[in-house]
Amino acid sequence: MAAPVHIVIFGASGDLTARKLVPALASLATRSECSEAFRLIGMARRPWDDAQFRRALREAQPESTWAAFDAFQERVHYVQGDVQDADALRVLERRLDALPGGAQAGRLFYLSLMPDLFGPAVQCLAQAGMVHAAEGGPWRRVVLEKPFGHDLASARELNRMLQARLREDQIYRIDHYLGKETVQNLFAFRFNNTIFEPVWNRRHVELVQVTVAETVGMEHGRAGYYDRAGAMSDMVQNHMLQILAMVAMEPPSSLDPEEVRGQKVSLLKSLRFSGRPGHSVRARYAGGAFQGAPVRGYLEEGVPAGSGTETFVALRLGAENWRWSGVPFLLRHGKRMAKAFTEVKVQFRTPPIQLSEGMVAGQSLLSAPEEAPCLLRPNVLTLSIQPREAMSLSFSVKQPGNGMAMVPADLAFDYRDRFGTATTPAYERLLLDAMQGDPTLFLRADEVEASWRFADAVRASWSGPGAPPLLEYAAGSWGPPEADGLFQGCEGGWSRG
Ligand code: BG6
Repeated sequence: MAAPVHIVIFGASGDLTARKLVPALASLATRSECSEAFRLIGMARRPWDDAQFRRALREAQPESTWAAFDAFQERVHYVQGDVQDADALRVLERRLDALPGGAQAGRLFYLSLMPDLFGPAVQCLAQAGMVHAAEGGPWRRVVLEKPFGHDLASARELNRMLQARLREDQIYRIDHYLGKETVQNLFAFRFNNTIFEPVWNRRHVELVQVTVAETVGMEHGRAGYYDRAGAMSDMVQNHMLQILAMVAMEPPSSLDPEEVRGQKVSLLKSLRFSGRPGHSVRARYAGGAFQGAPVRGYLEEGVPAGSGTETFVALRLGAENWRWSGVPFLLRHGKRMAKAFTEVKVQFRTPPIQLSEGMVAGQSLLSAPEEAPCLLRPNVLTLSIQPREAMSLSFSVKQPGNGMAMVPADLAFDYRDRFGTATTPAYERLLLDAMQGDPTLFLRADEVEASWRFADAVRASWSGPGAPPLLEYAAGSWGPPEADGLFQGCEGGWSRG
């Protein structure tokens, strides 16, 4: 990085700063791309000084990361105050001006705040003259955490408020899934290997399924926020649609951020939800068990009485464009499921005729035991995003011996085996990109709006006559069995990771 950078985190006493942002910055501080010192100033209402802030950050982190933090902590500062208080902003600006680089340093303002404060915070920063980036002068950027609005109307309003005070190229809307190496690989893998391109379409793909299964529930006092959002807004509208966009978008003509984001927007705009009964399943977890220990149901986790919020969603949707018309995209997400994993499976069509033997009449092709001789098993490309970071392609091979019995086999790749290390944490990549001014992995205004338009259409089908009921599933299970119905007319079933 050529010039000094100041990073200001508003809402710095929160969980995100200690758990994600500071470890990412401490790690970046050791990297050669960041050889120029960057400084962090946290701002929050707690009456802390620099030393108390550093201590709080250190204590919130696992001991294994203390050494990295200790090397970084002299670059960490604190200003007490509220972003909406003009006096506090003046104090902040004086502190920033006194840091290396002074007013000439690039500045990243990170809003780790309640979402309804995004607009007011940017307004106050603009009034204080802190986000004005003069032509040829030092840069000023604002990073916004999710959720970005709670529906299309509120996202539009927030975009309008932001764009009245900032240029779009100053606004960095985070979706941390885009910082994950394995999510970026969906794009990189598709567009750097020619063998899949001819078959990556409706003629050869039978269906695509995406799962984000979590075992967590309402830990860290999240119930209040979560109950207002629900699974659809918390995970599907953002993270899952971004994964889907990476899998299904058209190739951009270059790596220019606007080219890449433009193709994602086109894909998001092509998404259609039929609203047909059975094409969406929503549910919430009841009490159950996980790894032998009892687990409370959602309604016992401190959510408001009478809550009707879903913690599980399964959807069957389509992308109405030439490449994908008619191909079902099946999305499934739930909290408190049997296993935590995020995965994409691209299932290709089965061969048109059967030239082998050993088929058991009526046997489901995908659910047949792995070792059982089986014909006409579809090829499946599995892209494991987390916790396993891997890819595999399944195919059928002839079982040695007489005859023509086929058995399943696969080609596999695993990041750890190949590269020997874990991939870089998402926030590290995103913070570096924001500092370097690369918006490719951040959401553009029209991208967020296209995602909300789709999410709103699904949610609209959840009220009124014919709306799917809010089902229940036991905590620690695979979700309601009704979700299996989404495969109607297709071979196969939901992945178990
Ligand atoms: C957040 C959601 O955006 O992503 C959480 O608000 C969810 O509910 C989390 O648990 C999942 O992130 P990751 O990186 O752990 O898969």
